[in-house]
Amino acid sequence: MPQSKDTVKEFDFNARDFERVRGLIYKRAGISLADSKQEMVYSRLARRLRATGIDSFAKYLDDLEAGRLGEEWESFTNALTTNLTSFFREAHHFPLLADHIKGKREPLTIWCSASSTGEEPYSIAMTVCEAFNTLTPNCQIVATDIDTNVLAHAANGVYTMDRLDKMAPERQRRFFLKGKGDREGMARVRPELRNMITFKQLNLLADGWPISGQFDAIFCRNVMIYFDKATQRKILARFVPLMKPDALLFAGHSENFLYVSESLKLRGKTVYELDDNAAARKTPQRT
Ligand SMILES: C[S@@+](CC[C@H](N)C(=O)[O-])C[C@H]1O[C@@H](n2cnc3c(N)ncnc32)[C@H](O)[C@@H]1O
Repeated sequence: MPQSKDTVKEFDFNARDFERVRGLIYKRAGISLADSKQEMVYSRLARRLRATGIDSFAKYLDDLEAGRLGEEWESFTNALTTNLTSFFREAHHFPLLADHIKGKREPLTIWCSASSTGEEPYSIAMTVCEAFNTLTPNCQIVATDIDTNVLAHAANGVYTMDRLDKMAPERQRRFFLKGKGDREGMARVRPELRNMITFKQLNLLADGWPISGQFDAIFCRNVMIYFDKATQRKILARFVPLMKPDALLFAGHSENFLYVSESLKLRGKTVYELDDNAAARKTPQRT
């Protein structure tokens, strides 16, 4: 990679190293890294070289591929995911979810399939609590991500107060416990909210998903953008059997699933449902 004369890098990092990283993360997580991500890859993986005490990218990648670095595959993957998220991101989705679940009597199940540090599944949980006006609704949320670091953060449920800034004070009071003393400036989600959610590692690219059942809603937001069309198509085809006939599928603001799945139709802005044929195939026929 060309270097300006006043930026001397700690580790040599050339185009071949970048191509290798690109191939490995694509194969492992489906993530397609653009050419413009070279600097990002360097700075994120330089930390892994320091942590493993390896002094060149070529050796780090050789050892990783040869399986000589034990658990390092996990850290390599964690280092290359982008985890940007926030509470009630793409806010228009949440009233739609509330309308969808109100009046349902059976236990609700919702899957948040790229849950990052937890703001998204906790926003879903708050929406369900508000819809049924209770802190203990009959609802199970499964929150998954490939990245084990963000899952640990999410399961812990502790956030700096500035993450809650855009949330109405009433919501903050109802769903969070504010830290005092040396926890000043932090907030923890209430245990009732935490108990609604099961956190699990799940790679959307993996052959077997540790998840089953029929969901009322699936959130798959701002992760498909990292995947190519063929990968998106495969993942969407695997969502369909996991959706109840009237389930909703929520996508990110720049993701369009209509061009990659024949089984879906648009229900609202970046919200999908099964098309009539796919839904009919799921509904038991009465004779
Ligand atoms: C930009 S964040 C989006 C978080 C949240 N869904 C939102 O919209 O705010 C993308 C998340 O997808 C996860 N991810 C990337 N590749 C994945 C894969 N193959 N399987 C599961 N999760 C993946 C990343 O770890 C990251 O937490």
